[in-house]
Amino acid sequence: MYGRGIYALRDVSLVVEKGEFVFLTGPSGAGKSTLLRLLLRQEMPSDGKVIVAGRDLARLSPGQAQAYRRNLGFVFQDFKLIPTKTVLENVALVPRVLGATSVQQQRRTYQVLKWLGLQHRMNAYPLELSGGEQQRVAIARALVNEPALVLADEPTGNLDPDLSLEIMDLFRDINARGTTVLVATHDRELMRHVGRRAFSLDHGRLMESA
Ligand SMILES: Nc1ncnc2c1ncn2[C@@H]1O[C@H](COP(=O)(O)OP(=O)(O)O)[C@@H](O)[C@H]1O
Ligand SMILES: [Mg+2]
Repeated sequence: MYGRGIYALRDVSLVVEKGEFVFLTGPSGAGKSTLLRLLLRQEMPSDGKVIVAGRDLARLSPGQAQAYRRNLGFVFQDFKLIPTKTVLENVALVPRVLGATSVQQQRRTYQVLKWLGLQHRMNAYPLELSGGEQQRVAIARALVNEPALVLADEPTGNLDPDLSLEIMDLFRDINARGTTVLVATHDRELMRHVGRRAFSLDHGRLMESA
């Protein structure tokens, strides 16, 4: 519940298994972003529980909450890259914040940039990149810390259809490497392309899981 009496989600109960790739779908305002924010621990439920890897997120100490976030990758629709930093710096920022040593940090950063086909763009600035490249940088940043869970909120909302399918293939690769992936999208074509389980929300209620 937001503020007084706005229920963004009601009676929503769902289970995602470790290593799964699932979609969260539904029209604008359905509650998709709210559900992801609950999983990110940016919001706390006014009722009910959010349990990840056996732990109730509301019961984590500040230190545990920090450790929990460290194990998450999050991709936003609008990329949120830092324009004054290069691709390399944008991606390397995450391990530095988390206290990795510089050698480890560099190794991981180069690995993930190479994997996402960005090695030749490492020294470019975000605004010199195409939309698809910027989104891949955002994904690289979400993955550089090797998270167990990746959450993506409309990650292809700003991309054309071909690029969107490419980005979905990337999420599929990430998932094949063992990461649990949850993607919120209203794009049914994308979901058909990937062909995974989908939870459908409408006005904060869970409609179906197809
Ligand atoms: N911070 C907020 N404060 C108040 N209401 C909010 C807030 N965020 C979302 N809402 C409301 O919650 C509902 C679900 O929104 P949201 O989770 O953003 O849906 P979606 O991502 O599916 O478009 C909407 O009615 C929205 O207006
Ligand atoms: Mg949303």
